[in-house]
Amino acid sequence: MDAIRVRGGRKLAGDIQISGAKNAALPILCAVLLSEGPSLLRNVPGLRDIDTTAALLRFLGCEVVVDKEAHEVRVPSAKLSRVEAPYELVKQMRASVLVLGPLLARHGKAKVSLPGGCAIGARPIDQHLKGLEAMGAKIRLERGYVIAEGPGNGGRLHGADIAFDLPTVTGTENIMMAAALAKGRTTLWNCAREPEVEELGRVLNKMGARVDGAGTDVMHIDGVPELAPFDHAVIPDRIEAGTYLIAGAVVPGSDVRILGAVLEDMEALVLKLRQAGVQVEREGEGIRVRREGPLKPVHVTTAPHPGFPTDMQAQFLVLMTQATGESVMSETIFENRFMHVPELSRMGAQIEVRGRAAVVHGPTPLEGASVMATDLRASASLVIAGLMAEGETEVRRVYHLDRGYESMETRLRAVGADCERVKNAEG
Ligand code: EPZ
Repeated sequence: MDAIRVRGGRKLAGDIQISGAKNAALPILCAVLLSEGPSLLRNVPGLRDIDTTAALLRFLGCEVVVDKEAHEVRVPSAKLSRVEAPYELVKQMRASVLVLGPLLARHGKAKVSLPGGCAIGARPIDQHLKGLEAMGAKIRLERGYVIAEGPGNGGRLHGADIAFDLPTVTGTENIMMAAALAKGRTTLWNCAREPEVEELGRVLNKMGARVDGAGTDVMHIDGVPELAPFDHAVIPDRIEAGTYLIAGAVVPGSDVRILGAVLEDMEALVLKLRQAGVQVEREGEGIRVRREGPLKPVHVTTAPHPGFPTDMQAQFLVLMTQATGESVMSETIFENRFMHVPELSRMGAQIEVRGRAAVVHGPTPLEGASVMATDLRASASLVIAGLMAEGETEVRRVYHLDRGYESMETRLRAVGADCERVKNAEG
């Protein structure tokens, strides 16, 4: 397994170009299943999760070309030979559950492995299943699989009124795709409002769907008999952008510009960074981040969009280790998303986890160490810690990192970081 080695203390300066949004590309690639093709997705990030989704689409019978040079995924044909998403693929990436809605909508049948829990929590899909049942799907769980059929043994789903118990991102996306081809109107209340949900609504409408209100907490979707393929360029990745904003704030004297990011999608994070004393402002078509003086401690609570994103929690926590005083980070979305804390403590951070809150005492100088990545965003936070630690940090099991960040070490080196990837390091 690969590792990333970082020698800390370097000021960062220069531009970092942001890739397309992973969490927009994944549902859009599943929307390929709603039409025969040929579809084309542009500005696709070069990530393991994209490769996994391509493998799943091929397993279902699609013809898929992933062109990493061009950052495109071409699907010349989405004619299916199967309607099953096997455990081997779903266990690699829980977002595979996003094929459930499209398969049911277009083919009336689906057999999808339950995603199971993951490092950050149980992550059930009850809201997805309740929504589909409201639309007439017959659903049973059998030997770890969801077996679903449209009404009357594989018939067409019908519209429904659905109120989510919580604003689930992929739950909203699954139901949007199912409703796009259902008979009649589906109204969703308490939907997820993430920019990636809004982006999926744009693509579905490009395909001929009639989605109104994507990106807000109430959505109306009038089903149509069939959908056309799409040609679409993905929005930039706000979480990748936020991660590099924090990388540009951890070493005083750094001055980095993040190119291609949409500041409006990152307001909650930017406000907290400014509150901490980090300078963040729009500059040209980028966002400039600088950090001069000491950092102030900040209290943060993660929340569904437009609140502070849970996917930025680990990265912001690392920054708070340098703030003068006591910061508190409350994680309200996932039940076990502080696994980066023990690793950061080994580097000298003073963080105390009390249930869903982490209390950080700073500033504490961090020391380089060998640390273990456990989930996608935790691994990014450990690399960021390495940027400011004294000495060398080796972040192991960076396959977690590769799921959501395209060649992070190359991008950081390009702005002055002293880091490199070590192939086949110890696990
Ligand atoms: C999406 O996951 C993202 N993944 C996650 O990003 C992100 O952390 C999460 O939304 C929250 O913003 C993709 O978009 C592919 P949820 P998702 O359904 O949809 C509970 C990353 O780092 N819940 O909004 O799985 C659930 O347990 C990844 O890129 C139910 O109880 O998240 C969690 O506590 C990690 N029942 C909360 O809701 C359900 O049916 C939010 O989950 C669904 C969810």
